Amino acid sequence: MSRSSAPKRAYVETYGCQMNISDGELMEGILAERGYSIVRRPEDADVVLVNTCAIREHAEQRVLGRVAQLNGLKSERPDLVIGVTGCMAQRMGETLVREAPYVDLVMGPDGYRSLPDALERVRSGYATERLGSGAGRRPGRRRGAQLTVLDFHPSENYEGLEQRRTAGPSAWVPIQRGCDHRCTFCIVPYVRGPEKNRSSAEVLAEVQAIVERGVSEVTLLGQTVNSYSWQGVSFAELLRSVARVPGVRRVRFTSPHPNDVTPELVEVMAEEPAICEHLHLPAQSGNDRTLKRMLRRYTVGTFLDKVEMVRAAIPDIALSTDIIVAFPGETEAEFRDTLELMRTVRFDEAYTYKYSLRDGTPAARLPETDFVPPDEAQVRLEELIEVSRTIQAEINEAEVGRVEEVLIEKAARHEGQILGRTRRNKVVVFDGDTERVGEYTAVELERTTGATFAGSEASARSVPVSV
Ligand code: 5AD
Repeated sequence: MSRSSAPKRAYVETYGCQMNISDGELMEGILAERGYSIVRRPEDADVVLVNTCAIREHAEQRVLGRVAQLNGLKSERPDLVIGVTGCMAQRMGETLVREAPYVDLVMGPDGYRSLPDALERVRSGYATERLGSGAGRRPGRRRGAQLTVLDFHPSENYEGLEQRRTAGPSAWVPIQRGCDHRCTFCIVPYVRGPEKNRSSAEVLAEVQAIVERGVSEVTLLGQTVNSYSWQGVSFAELLRSVARVPGVRRVRFTSPHPNDVTPELVEVMAEEPAICEHLHLPAQSGNDRTLKRMLRRYTVGTFLDKVEMVRAAIPDIALSTDIIVAFPGETEAEFRDTLELMRTVRFDEAYTYKYSLRDGTPAARLPETDFVPPDEAQVRLEELIEVSRTIQAEINEAEVGRVEEVLIEKAARHEGQILGRTRRNKVVVFDGDTERVGEYTAVELERTTGATFAGSEASARSVPVSV
């Protein structure tokens, strides 16, 4: 029997952002369609795919370690195929092939349609042909050759490919891939290529189909999701249509660019009951000179105008953000402006990062003297975290006592407890059975740790407990 006709089991391990999680589901879908069974442990698989992130150096190092560890499985099963996919695969390409000779396949995000064929080539040991700009054969390797698939396909919008979603009430729906912005710190445009939008009809058909399978919470995904446009259909229009699909109870989207938060979008958010009262609005910095050098194309003033517009229309909205400290050239005073922005807006949550140099990005070419020393960057990060956590805790303290609709997502850490999320994206833990995952229930927020809540179900409290 040839190796390629043996039963095939695939394991996909995903790192990084929501788009990557969604890509992981896409790869599983593509492989399942071609007869693979999807397994939950690398030990059970014939093909192990590590779906990677390139956004910061730290993310890459973690993954490289993991791939080396997975290589250990090959000592007992030399036929095991290891693939590295996603943004880091795209970024490192040839280097990865050289540095990790045990990796059989390196595939960037535009290559997934050809994933089964590429795996077939690798498995049958005929991966000598070049696909994309990849390297060819490595002489002296144990078997076959390493295959790299790194070409960009500007027309690849993943149409007709099915995600393999695990059963549950929530689903990611990618509506856009790639990015046309050129924020100077960011690797994404170089690893995911230009912005590509899906047809609005396809998106709606997909939402209808998943609702029939039990999904009630939909999160639309795109690198700058609100710059979506398809043959005259704007993001706001698509969002409205998705929110009106019967059976859709909650709609979210991520990540928007502040510049494309338009009055039309805010109006749709305010009007459509299914759209959740939460907006992730990445600010990145609170200083105009830094924003300009990041090429964010807004100022602190225009960012604050957007915040004001959103809050005027949806007073109860929860806002989250992304902030980078120690962008090259950021002075101490400029960093203080970021703290000031945090205190002005009072975000419900902030994802905070130290600038990480990404080769190939414009910021990486700034003079070396501009780079903020690591210990100084660390001090700034810690101060920012302190400020943002204090604000978050104050906001959440003030919410104790509220009764919120919660969608039950999973078991909580402690036995007998479950974890859910409010429409405003706050995590709540309360007593309950994991069989209830997927249900909506009213929960009173009773305590906060600062970041999350402990509560109890409104209905549970109104039922007398027999002793
Ligand atoms: N260094 C640090 N953080 C970064 N981000 C993107 N690129 C970098 C980088 N080079 C952050 C931004 C973005 C989030 C997803 O990751 O804040 O919004």
